[in-house]
Amino acid sequence: MKTIIEPFKIKSVEPIRFTSREEREEILKKAGYNPFLIHADDVIIDLLTDSGTSAMSAKQWAGIMEGDESYAGSKSFYRFEKMVKKITGMKHIIPTHQGRAAEKILFSITGGQGKFFPNNTHFDTTRANIEFSKAEAYDLLNEVGKHPEIRADFKGNMDTVALENFILQKGKENIPLCMITITNNSGGGQPVSIENIRETKKVCSKYGIPLFIDACRFAENAYFIKKREKGYQDKSILQIAQEIFSYADGVTMSAKKDALVNIGGFLALNDDSLAMNCRNLLIVTEGFPTYGGLAGRDLEAMAQGLEEILEESYLQYRVRSVEYLGEKLLSAGVPIIEPPGGHAIYIDAKRFLPDVLPEYFPGQAIVCALFLEGGIRTVEIGSVMFGKYDENGKLIAPPMELVRLAIPRRVYTQSHIDYVSEVVIDVFNKRESLKGFKIVYQAPMLRHFTALFEPL
Ligand code: F0G
Repeated sequence: MKTIIEPFKIKSVEPIRFTSREEREEILKKAGYNPFLIHADDVIIDLLTDSGTSAMSAKQWAGIMEGDESYAGSKSFYRFEKMVKKITGMKHIIPTHQGRAAEKILFSITGGQGKFFPNNTHFDTTRANIEFSKAEAYDLLNEVGKHPEIRADFKGNMDTVALENFILQKGKENIPLCMITITNNSGGGQPVSIENIRETKKVCSKYGIPLFIDACRFAENAYFIKKREKGYQDKSILQIAQEIFSYADGVTMSAKKDALVNIGGFLALNDDSLAMNCRNLLIVTEGFPTYGGLAGRDLEAMAQGLEEILEESYLQYRVRSVEYLGEKLLSAGVPIIEPPGGHAIYIDAKRFLPDVLPEYFPGQAIVCALFLEGGIRTVEIGSVMFGKYDENGKLIAPPMELVRLAIPRRVYTQSHIDYVSEVVIDVFNKRESLKGFKIVYQAPMLRHFTALFEPL
């Protein structure tokens, strides 16, 4: 097998500013050792997120010029609507400025005190929007998905037995909808099988509960199905996506991922009365239903991005380039969530730094070391992000301490990725010298964005 190459040439480039280690020491200190407070211009390779960081194609940029900026009935909206309908088969397509805006509208209407929302794993904005409505969010991930070191094909699957028990326990009348997130971002970018989606739908149907899909990375998930699930090898990505959505009653999507754009999202629904309520709220919070908080040019770029994401050569390169980084790290002994997910590599900080206790934030120590060593920006997903405290102020740590290396789409080349692996391996080889951190300032909510740290 020959090297799987980038299925594109580069027409426009963005220079990277190189920094010295001494400069990075200063930059890190000034940012309070928090990667969110570092200026992007001071970063060499930015793996903070794969969201809104994609490189657009020449056709997308051409679409930006083509965008119809009419307030109502823009031609770009109809192109976008046609494309989303083709993929999802949904009846009502409601554009929003990003994924969480779709979630906010959906849960403002369906949520509220006494309501419960199950998911394989809620992404943090989904959970936050549910909790903001005073409803409760539950994660019902399959057991295998909770073990970083176990290799399995579909570690994002919903535990359907737990789901049925959950419905019986909470009462079907208190569960307005069930969600499945594809791929499961918070669980390592791991895919969900079609069989599991079908099974989840069966359980939901038995109790009359609608199934919604959080579809941010649906194309990456469809590619994993093609590669790993029996009976799908000869189907196109579009056909697989269509089958996935055929089991759903609704979709929320952040187009900043698998629609290859820098901003955008949508809510897609089959239910007429829910769609009417959502559109009415959309008008108050986002805008008229044919633009939903976006410019016509954004809708045009999304429609084009949704066509490009279905190309198998792209997805083959995409999934392979993440796997390539994973293989390099594994061969040097670096502990990661296995197998590599679709959009990111997750370092297992507990095994990387076994001597740094969760209260001293081992993930944060790795994040800072990667920046210092090679100017690479990553993010901690562990006790900084999700840590809670008991009444004595003792940390209640989440089950995993991770560092996410999210790969922006079509942005970095193989030599960038080689460089990343060299830096991670260098840091791993001197891991004994890494020290923990303490928090010196934190906000009452979502502290990871603004917290300030000091090295121990
Ligand atoms: N759902 C999932 C699974 C996500 O990963 C995200 C965003 C959202 C919903 C919200 O979408 O940002 O457009 O409002 N994930 C980004 C990340 C932020 O870095 O993983 P949004």
